[in-house]
Amino acid sequence: MSGKTICLQNVEHFFSSHRIGEPPTKVLCQTSVTMPKQQFVSLVGPSGCGKTTVLNMAAGLVRPTQGNITLDGKTPKVGDPDVGYLLARDALLPWRTALMNVSLPLELRGGGRKERESLARKILEEVGLGNFADAYPAQLSHGMRQRVAVARTLVAEPNTLLMDEPFSALDAQTRLSVQQLFLRLWERVQSTVLFVTHDLTEAILMSDRVLVFSARPGEIVAEFEVDFERPRSLRELQSSERFHDLFRRIWDVFRQEVEV
Ligand SMILES: Nc1ncnc2c1ncn2[C@@H]1O[C@H](COP(=O)(O)OP(=O)(O)O)[C@@H](O)[C@H]1O
Ligand SMILES: [Mg+2]
Repeated sequence: MSGKTICLQNVEHFFSSHRIGEPPTKVLCQTSVTMPKQQFVSLVGPSGCGKTTVLNMAAGLVRPTQGNITLDGKTPKVGDPDVGYLLARDALLPWRTALMNVSLPLELRGGGRKERESLARKILEEVGLGNFADAYPAQLSHGMRQRVAVARTLVAEPNTLLMDEPFSALDAQTRLSVQQLFLRLWERVQSTVLFVTHDLTEAILMSDRVLVFSARPGEIVAEFEVDFERPRSLRELQSSERFHDLFRRIWDVFRQEVEV
């Protein structure tokens, strides 16, 4: 399975105000950027600069006011089973077991029940929850629920992955283990990823490229290549001078935007 090319061409966005007579708010300045197949791209920038809006455009949930966004040349469609969307809140269905939550994207794709169950079971084992297949979300800890959500997002091997601060609500220890687990699975699936995070260490650990956005209206003010070999480990990165140097260079740009 290979990823899709995500392309933004002269994309600009305004949201209309809820108050009568107020002008629309410009959220995103004209932006053109291409994410090649299988690239893992992090978007960082101050709150409100339009990061989630960009993901929602890639999901087909928001149409840009100007310009266009395409996945392999096509306009994104809502509910496309080839697009996975992972949020900070796990959004599992409370009335379904872990196994049935994970098999949901496979159901949307079609395919036999036996095959769905065996794929879902296999990936639940890979995320360390083989023994919790029959548990309901309410019976799982937050970290376990997010691991189920990771399994559900990746089980159908979507070629595009949209991730909106997916690990930000986890405690530091759990976050580390879910990040590593996610990377392991992603290295197999190799989808193109748009990953929003506030955490620069996480951005460097996970991605091939980091785009830094300005404060609203957002525009890309800098971009950085991250060429550390994969598989990566945070411990190894943190002992490398190159990692700290890259962190400082990204932080220097990021800080100017958040301090405005
Ligand atoms: N549906 C909407 N209607 C009106 N304004 C919105 C809507 N969605 C987001 N916004 C506004 O657009 C701006 C960018 O939002 P968002 O993309 O969520 O930023 P970020 O994810 O970078 O924090 C914010 O000021 C937000 O309040
Ligand atoms: Mg957001």
